[in-house]
Amino acid sequence: MADETILTMRGIEKEYIVGGEVSSVLKGIDLEVKKGEFLAILGPSGSGKSTLMNIIGCLDVPTRGEYQLSGLSIGSQDEQTLAHIRNREIGFIFQSFFLMQRQTALENVKMPLIYANMPEKQQNERAAEMLRLVGLEDKMNYYPNQLSGGQQQRVAIARAMSNNPTILLADEPTGALDQKTGRQVMELFHQLNDEGRTIIMITHDVHIAEHAKRIVKILDGNIGEGEVTDA
Ligand SMILES: Nc1ncnc2c1ncn2[C@@H]1O[C@H](COP(=O)(O)OP(=O)(O)O)[C@@H](O)[C@H]1O
Ligand SMILES: [Mg+2]
Repeated sequence: MADETILTMRGIEKEYIVGGEVSSVLKGIDLEVKKGEFLAILGPSGSGKSTLMNIIGCLDVPTRGEYQLSGLSIGSQDEQTLAHIRNREIGFIFQSFFLMQRQTALENVKMPLIYANMPEKQQNERAAEMLRLVGLEDKMNYYPNQLSGGQQQRVAIARAMSNNPTILLADEPTGALDQKTGRQVMELFHQLNDEGRTIIMITHDVHIAEHAKRIVKILDGNIGEGEVTDA
């Protein structure tokens, strides 16, 4: 369905207690994301990007405010329910890939499917399909240390997509890659978005953010939409 809102944040605040003092990191974030969007959240180091990503990804809950994901109110869920929501709704992609070093590319991509209790034959088929999609059909049985950085990030992207999540959520996905390899990963994101995947990408790099179709800026825990010149 076109124009379907899958994520709504209203007045999201996050505070940490550090040395007995309240430190306010997110100060009232409003955000709406529709199905099929490719959104970049752009901000300098320390602006609250990862804190916001953890809340979007249901790894953490806000101190105040309302967060709805696929029609579910996230603030009111217990940890077990949050884990289920994460597994179904979010495909995570991190700067440092987070692949299991003792498992092959195929086994890494299968991990979310094992957690989702998919029958083994389907796991293998689905994981192989995802690796084909990211152009690694000839590397399925390679271990992470036998792959380049860009190839490892492709495995991580295949893993993030294996469960067919509502949102691909990427935190500095090109941060550990050289420029050329980073561009290739962005081309893959374009391809996936053209196929209808919703992507939220968090970055401090304006050139990377410009690959997205919409950019919101975060500065000192506040969000603003508008002209993008610099992070
Ligand atoms: N668990 C935490 N406890 C206390 N302060 C934190 C915690 N996580 C992040 N912060 C603080 O929140 C601010 C934003 O951090 P972060 O969200 O990681 O920013 P970014 O990803 O944009 O660099 C920083 O000042 C950081 O020190
Ligand atoms: Mg960060």
